[in-house]
Amino acid sequence: MKKCNDHFFDFLVSHAKSYGFIFPSSEIYGGLNAVYDYGPYGIELKNNIKEFWWKSMTFLHENIVGIDSSILMRSEIWDASGHVNEFNELLIDNKDSKKRYRPDILIKEHVEKHFSKNLRKKENILFRLSKSLKKKDFLDLKTLVDELNIRDSISKTKNWTKIRHFNMMFQIKNENKKDLYLRPETAQGIFCNFNNVIKSNRMKIPFGIAQIGKSFRNEIFARKFIFRMREFEQMEMQFFIFPEEEKKWYEYWKDIRFKWHLFLGDQKNYKLRDHDHLAHYASAGSDIEYNFPFGFQEVEGIHSRRDFDLKKHEYFSKKKLRVFESRKNYIPYVIETSLGLDRLFLAIFTSSLKEEKLENGNTRIVLKLPPYLSPIKGAIFPLVKKDGLPETAKKIFNDFKIHHKLIYDEKESIGKLYRRQDAIGTPLCFTVDYETIETNTVTMRYRDSMQQKRVHIKDICRIIKYETGLEKILKKLS
Ligand code: GAP
Repeated sequence: MKKCNDHFFDFLVSHAKSYGFIFPSSEIYGGLNAVYDYGPYGIELKNNIKEFWWKSMTFLHENIVGIDSSILMRSEIWDASGHVNEFNELLIDNKDSKKRYRPDILIKEHVEKHFSKNLRKKENILFRLSKSLKKKDFLDLKTLVDELNIRDSISKTKNWTKIRHFNMMFQIKNENKKDLYLRPETAQGIFCNFNNVIKSNRMKIPFGIAQIGKSFRNEIFARKFIFRMREFEQMEMQFFIFPEEEKKWYEYWKDIRFKWHLFLGDQKNYKLRDHDHLAHYASAGSDIEYNFPFGFQEVEGIHSRRDFDLKKHEYFSKKKLRVFESRKNYIPYVIETSLGLDRLFLAIFTSSLKEEKLENGNTRIVLKLPPYLSPIKGAIFPLVKKDGLPETAKKIFNDFKIHHKLIYDEKESIGKLYRRQDAIGTPLCFTVDYETIETNTVTMRYRDSMQQKRVHIKDICRIIKYETGLEKILKKLS
């Protein structure tokens, strides 16, 4: 099945639901736009991705520590960070369908659909789009929508409103006090704890603070499954540096982060792209993009935020946010790496989901996840449900379950049990058969090659650790 078509994407969404990875939120009430829940295997995969990122950041770099800051923060923080005034998206409505769109995305999608073979025309339009966005020239953007004859996909009309601004933060009522916001990025919790971390952990420049947590954005163009959600998770790291070393560390983190993605094993589908349109806080930025079924899109952003945030928080909070080193007193610059956990999940899921033709003419659906990310590391089955085989298989499961996330299953025939584990990405299956009773060995089957060999029961735990543990990949990364 080809990766770059709607059919594959529909298949992926349906596979994610039917095998317990991702469900639409509030489904029994008709669903909630752009909000999703992670199912039993989804949460295991998500936790494994988090663990891999967390260890890559805070274990492999002795000068990076982690925090977990609150989602609700004082609203002044968002005045200081510029989000109250600047964190806006453009908005255009179709008067007939009453649907809202981001005009920049409407234009980009139109260009991708109609001019993908006419590169010159495509580049000219994208250049004009980028210029108008930079100049905040809403009139020209509207002219572009009209000139390109863009129609609403629902009403099929060109009956558009004017283009205007829309703040993307969710505001929540706070009794008689100032309203609060749900954070739109985790980074501000890091900036506001800058002094606490320096003092409590005796950090010296250069050093980083990493965090994984939920963020919320009132996305008006929330489509494409978990790619653009209103509630999502970020894995961010702010690296505090001497201002003179901005370029060096910006290049360093771009390189480290890009290589990290390549280690996930789908090299040809990742690329690094410098920003043509910078966020309000950034002086330089690049995106790591993945080739999703709907084209190359951002998974992670690397930004130089300079002293934008600490300086603003100094001013608004009237607290010094500086370092005092070698008789110098300065506000450090910040290089930020900001990865969307759900987008990375979708990238990994896209690259792993395969339909394979087998030698006997049948096909199988297999999720070829990197084994260290697989939700279940090993499955234990009895060949048949009699003659003591289930008891032996259950004992193996019980003996090793504290070491690895395992599954015991006897609900179907052995062929169907293998197919199910293939579909959820379990790298190793172990089957207890009649020979087990005599030799204490089981049949081990590899997910990817489907090859089988006999292994001793006492070796199962060690094999799973070697084949599916994080150690091997972390060693390579370090
Ligand atoms: N602190 C910087 C920051 O938040 P960003 O480029 O706006 O930068 C960083 O977001 C990452 O967060 C993106 O690369 C993307 O992976 C993820 N992200 C942003 N908005 C998202 C959304 N609505 N749904 C899912 N992921 C999102």
